[in-house]
Amino acid sequence: MLVKTEVLLATDDAIRRAANLLRLGRLVAFPTETVYGLGADADNPQAVQALFAAKGRPADHPVIVHLAEASQIDDWATDIPLAAHRLADAFWPGPLTMILHRGRRASDLVTGGLGTVGLRVPAHSVARQLLQSFGGAIAAPSANRFGRVSPTSAAHVYDELAGRIDLVLDGGECQVGLESTIVDLSSDCPAVLRPGGISVESLAAVLAGALRGATAGAPRVSGSLESHYAPRARVELVAQCELAAQAERLSRQGRKVAVLARPGQICPETAGLTIIPVPADDEGLARVLYAALRQVDALGCDWVLVALPNEQGIGAAIADRLRKAAGPRAG
Ligand code: TXA
Ligand code: MG
Repeated sequence: MLVKTEVLLATDDAIRRAANLLRLGRLVAFPTETVYGLGADADNPQAVQALFAAKGRPADHPVIVHLAEASQIDDWATDIPLAAHRLADAFWPGPLTMILHRGRRASDLVTGGLGTVGLRVPAHSVARQLLQSFGGAIAAPSANRFGRVSPTSAAHVYDELAGRIDLVLDGGECQVGLESTIVDLSSDCPAVLRPGGISVESLAAVLAGALRGATAGAPRVSGSLESHYAPRARVELVAQCELAAQAERLSRQGRKVAVLARPGQICPETAGLTIIPVPADDEGLARVLYAALRQVDALGCDWVLVALPNEQGIGAAIADRLRKAAGPRAG
């Protein structure tokens, strides 16, 4: 069923309107510091079901529940370990999601039938105002169609979900640009399931070292071979010193090739080669990465080459997303 999707600048009035829509069981996209989320009332089963339908997401995938305050976690989780309180004190509000044993308020719909629930207190002022004005908890996956690149602007959300959701609150471009770090605290030793906006190094510092899955290349959350976070164009990871040669090789084969190039990464002046400049620093690259991958598709390129960053700080999250984007495609 098609609905008219409004895009409104995130003024106080628009945020109140968004909160009212959530109360009515409708779907509202909103900015967070990581990526845009597609929100539904986490206590309303029909609304959460509509969320899955709008994204085209399988029903057994859990969604993150967003809260206004860390003090609300007791409603949603139980058997909360000391480590979770330490992490909440250090990183909430912020780009950290904690997986905890589910509490009485967490339905099978938000947990995907698991015994655990993902919780996050976002830092973005619009997300916080929306949560406060709504008064409840907001179930929100990233506001993209299933398997696609997460949106980091209101325009990206509109491109993905126009006709399927009621409102997009426009709060500008997301500052982090990649999804939250997910830490599983439901077993004896905390484990990083997805690197993200909070670095593994800073988590380890707060947890005094007790952290699994923190090493580069360790198995990640989904364990799925299907590609995620992927543009339409084929993504190829290339050693920095190979970037120019590989771009030239593919172009000569008649491919329409794009290169995400940091300053100083030399690229040949080959006809048909599209250079998409990206910032030199990893924080800057994280911020623009998804927009750059969308640009590759918009320009009609069928191949994109990119060099992996060093896997420290946010570099680990960039590398994780690029590997998933380069992974084997479903179907
Ligand atoms: O930054 C973010 O985390 C954004 C913003 C909107 O908050 N949200 C986001 O949601 O990226 P989503 O649904 O696109 O990704 C959440 C990931 C999924 O891979 C899901 O499987 C995992 O979190 N997840 C959620 N609850 C879980 C649980 N109980 N156990 C294991 N994984 C869980
Ligand atoms: Mg997502």
